[in-house]
Amino acid sequence: MINAMEHEGSELPDTSFVPQLDARQRAMLAEMGVRVWAPRPPVAAQVTAPVAAEAPPTAVASASAPSSMPAPAAPAARPTQVRPPVNDAVVAVPQPVAAPARLRPAGVDAMDWPALQAAVAGCEACGLCRSRQNTVFGVGDHQADWMVIGEAPGENEDLQGEPFVGVAGQLLDNMLRAIGRSRGGSGAQAAYIANVLKCRPPANRNPLPEEVAQCEPYLARQVALVQPKIILAMGRFAVQSLLQTSEPIGKLRGQVHRYQGVPVIVTYHPAYLLRTPGDKAKAWADLCLALETAAASPDRSTAP
Ligand code: URA
Repeated sequence: MINAMEHEGSELPDTSFVPQLDARQRAMLAEMGVRVWAPRPPVAAQVTAPVAAEAPPTAVASASAPSSMPAPAAPAARPTQVRPPVNDAVVAVPQPVAAPARLRPAGVDAMDWPALQAAVAGCEACGLCRSRQNTVFGVGDHQADWMVIGEAPGENEDLQGEPFVGVAGQLLDNMLRAIGRSRGGSGAQAAYIANVLKCRPPANRNPLPEEVAQCEPYLARQVALVQPKIILAMGRFAVQSLLQTSEPIGKLRGQVHRYQGVPVIVTYHPAYLLRTPGDKAKAWADLCLALETAAASPDRSTAP
């Protein structure tokens, strides 16, 4: 049992005039850094009127209020309604996180490009829709025979609505240039770039399995529409999501995997390569394997 009097270094504000709170509640609010205030009854009333006879003042709990904030001045007369200071965040009963308003639209696996892009733009299938600035659909020639698949948008991608536009994206562009490809290229110079997740995870945290599960059908449809000759999967999350494995990249590199029948080459994420430049030679070897594999891959059928 928490005792307010045992609170170490206690500088608990005097809340004794808030009759709705018992000692345990006061101590718990203090532990959470929640400051409690209520208008003090007028001095005369404190002296003359028994507490039980008073209508209880409305108590308001506020979070993160600086301890130096002066207590509100005692009102001359008891107000009928008590308002918290403007800067105070009122602590309410924690609200459950709202469920997604609607789910992923049906029929993703039969959508054409405009329908798919619109479905992604309006998607509310997971909680990431509430924190995104933009969905990040994909970029490049829809007929590209190279497809690059990354993990999820970061801050820059979220702001610009395009995959790989930050520093990691610059490295990716350089890697593609080294093999004669680019996001703006067409025909034999083309590359289509997309991510497993179309929305940025807050603070670039790792994608959650349910987010990947909700989003993966969009990527599956992009792959079906592009029908690339080769997929370059970059980074652990992209690789593990596509290949449905928990094996580390180090074990998956150097082999030809398959996604929807398309050859998949596994390589390091450009952000990792920026941190670990010593592994760039391995990434180059992966690109060479992808070039060889694409060259041996049969021509695509006509995309739907
Ligand atoms: N990392 C990714 O995997 N994708 C992006 O679009 C940006 C950074």
